Amino acid sequence: MKPSTPEPAVPRVVLGVTGGIAAYKAVELTRRLREAGFHVAPILTPDATRFVGPVTFSALASEPARVSLYDDTTTPIPHTYLGQTADLIVVAPATAHFIARYAMGLADDLLTATLLATRAPVLLCPAMHTEMWEQPSVQENLATLRRRGVLVMEPESGVLAGGDEGAGRLPEPAAIASLVEHILQKNDEGILSGRRVVISAGGTREPIDPVRVLSNRSSGRQGHALAEVAARLGATVQLVTTASLSLALDVRGDIEVLKVETAAEMSEAMLSLATLADVVIMAAAVADFGVLASTSKMKKQDGVPSLVLVPTLDILTTLVEKRRDGQIIVGFAAESDHVLENGLSKIRTKQCDLLVVNDVSKEGVGFDHATNEVFLIDRDEDIETISLRSKEAVSYEILSRVAALLTQGAQ
Ligand SMILES: Cc1cc2nc3c(=O)[nH]c(=O)nc-3n(C[C@H](O)[C@H](O)[C@H](O)COP(=O)(O)O)c2cc1C
Repeated sequence: MKPSTPEPAVPRVVLGVTGGIAAYKAVELTRRLREAGFHVAPILTPDATRFVGPVTFSALASEPARVSLYDDTTTPIPHTYLGQTADLIVVAPATAHFIARYAMGLADDLLTATLLATRAPVLLCPAMHTEMWEQPSVQENLATLRRRGVLVMEPESGVLAGGDEGAGRLPEPAAIASLVEHILQKNDEGILSGRRVVISAGGTREPIDPVRVLSNRSSGRQGHALAEVAARLGATVQLVTTASLSLALDVRGDIEVLKVETAAEMSEAMLSLATLADVVIMAAAVADFGVLASTSKMKKQDGVPSLVLVPTLDILTTLVEKRRDGQIIVGFAAESDHVLENGLSKIRTKQCDLLVVNDVSKEGVGFDHATNEVFLIDRDEDIETISLRSKEAVSYEILSRVAALLTQGAQ
């Protein structure tokens, strides 16, 4: 008789649902996670049950939905059972109140107690009205959690529950499920282990005078998501960023962060860090021109000033010229017309290994959005489309291509 091969373990997802209006979307998320082949154990906060009932989750999930720490008849210590057996804990939606409790390390309900009793990765999907989302308290709590290694899926902008518009909408269940699949993809585990990855992020700010700057609309989110995901995939990451780290763009504690402002500062940092890097990713939007800045504040009464622009160093081109043996260099291009044509022409000129092109004229794409849709163009001019998804999921796609290029280079 042939020895039977053990069944591959089904990844276990604990799905936390908190008391926000988007809790209804967690029902659809449960279904999608089951369809993707995961074991789903739902935990609802007591307030979540005011929005959706546990019966619905119990019917769709792999085990009955739990609400309380105390009345579980199947296991005597539910929070340790759930925390210790989880491969991933996802909280969707995550309310402002829950985020505060989690950042404080409270364990006053089953969900927060489970989060303290786990070593599994944690993904939070915050959802709330824009005013709540923009509160410094909420952003600081998230920054604390990010530093501790929690992955935060940025909420989307759009129409909110009261009919008003702004940032704070829970991404669609399909987008969350797709990110969960990336996180739990076993064959991605450690694909960047032992690799040093240097990433630039954000838009540079070129001084015009001591108070004014010339800048662009890059938020740094794509670069920061790349840094987070590269660290998750095992890399040693250095992030050179223009983004303010006091708020939501903070990153996990093991990522080395260098804060820069101008194109000149970014060039200096990137070119110096690149000398030891296996991978360099230029996700930042670097000004093509700096300004011949006035040393004193320009006065309105002196009339409309003429700005003298001076070209900045082309960092991507310089990186390619100075590339180390086997180093992989990834460039980004933000295009608004003739997107593919311009992308192809850019990779031919710049000679980087992979070019990530986004069409910033499209809804939900590029600058200051939580989502992105990109084309990946390689040196053979093969083009792959990565359809609209979270910037974290796009990062997984880019970095798995990078890992493949590193392996090819080593052969
Ligand atoms: C109709 C309604 C909708 C709400 N929607 C949200 C929301 O989307 N996001 C949020 O952070 N809080 C929202 N709240 C507030 C939370 O329900 C409240 O802070 C609650 O204490 C959260 O508890 P939990 O985080 O323990 O589940 C809403 C409250 C009501 C009454």
